[in-house]
Amino acid sequence: MTPLLARTGQALGLAMAFGLAASSAQAAGLTREHANFATLEDGTSVERFVLRNGHGMQASILTYGATLQSLLVPDKAGKLADVVLGFDDVKGYQEHGDVYFGATIGRFGNRLAKGQFSLDGKQYQVPVNDGPNALHGGPKGFDKHVWKARETDEKGWVGVTLSYHSADGEMGFPGNLNVEVEYSLNEDNVLRIRYKATTDRSTVLNLTNHSYFNLAGAGEGDILNQVATLYAAKYTPIDSTLIPTGELAPVAGTPLDFTRPVAFGKHIRDDHEQLKFAEPKQGGFDFNWVLDSAGDLGKLAADVMDPGSGRRLQLYTTEPGVQLYTGNFLKGFTGKGGKTYPHWGAFTLETQHYPDAPNQPNFPSTRLDPKHTYTQTTLFKFSAQ
Ligand code: GLA
Repeated sequence: MTPLLARTGQALGLAMAFGLAASSAQAAGLTREHANFATLEDGTSVERFVLRNGHGMQASILTYGATLQSLLVPDKAGKLADVVLGFDDVKGYQEHGDVYFGATIGRFGNRLAKGQFSLDGKQYQVPVNDGPNALHGGPKGFDKHVWKARETDEKGWVGVTLSYHSADGEMGFPGNLNVEVEYSLNEDNVLRIRYKATTDRSTVLNLTNHSYFNLAGAGEGDILNQVATLYAAKYTPIDSTLIPTGELAPVAGTPLDFTRPVAFGKHIRDDHEQLKFAEPKQGGFDFNWVLDSAGDLGKLAADVMDPGSGRRLQLYTTEPGVQLYTGNFLKGFTGKGGKTYPHWGAFTLETQHYPDAPNQPNFPSTRLDPKHTYTQTTLFKFSAQ
């Protein structure tokens, strides 16, 4: 038996031993299983789907919040580590809903100034949950609902699709919205996330995934010596409440210049107004970069490398922006396996339309009309060197 087949056999054997539903219909190496993860107080079952490939890469997805709960990725020696922050139980996600570990964010990623926007002359109010503003869809966003799940595959990919119906008026947003998020894995160590949504009334929509990455492994210290490149010549400056001013400003000459590889820690403490807005005490990154790839999935958007483990993450997306956030509000959380997640213990790459877009006439539109379909594809490609 080749090592690959042995591993697949082992995975299936384990799955059966634990009474998990395993699917062997996949190409060699790609497998999927699912099991009950938790039962909520109202009796709702939360399922966990586990996708694997033949290189040991493994993604676990919860129906609670359509959340990426763990992601095992090999280093240069083939050693696996879980590179995303998260919790071992649903209680963790419920009690710390404001960190959005791995969650699907909707209806509106990042901030809406004062929770307000207008559409066709009508004013809408989303309940505020971040000082004066609404963040990530308001106090009960998509991350705090249990989604339906179904298995989905296409040649070379093993996947799971989560779906949610958001009723007209939910969190103040107009339109009955049907939304789907598909996670899938292939043998090139790509985790792909695809989104799709339709509405029966004109609305606004800005979906993203809020995974916190640490390429050395979640809970293995901070990410200050991990080296990032962002293919973005501009960013959207913010005010003190983290609302964009409306400008697209050049990164050149600022600590936000990641157009050439630079360690996160190099400029994170610089005395720069934008960094202080993001984290008043010690500084931090929490900005929307305007991607040069401008919606082209074939162009590299970002590239992050961990010199210690050799793990590398390359980002591709159809979205025009990415929110890079360096865990500025993490203050020693206890996460999976009892590990501690320190300040600056991870980075996010939230592919998105720009924050507050409905109130910013110069930003690409986030409007979705009936008979149109919202789509987004984002690829997280892992390798090690
Ligand atoms: C986004 C925001 C941050 C923070 C995190 C979650 O990245 O821009 O300010 O709210 O989500 O804590």
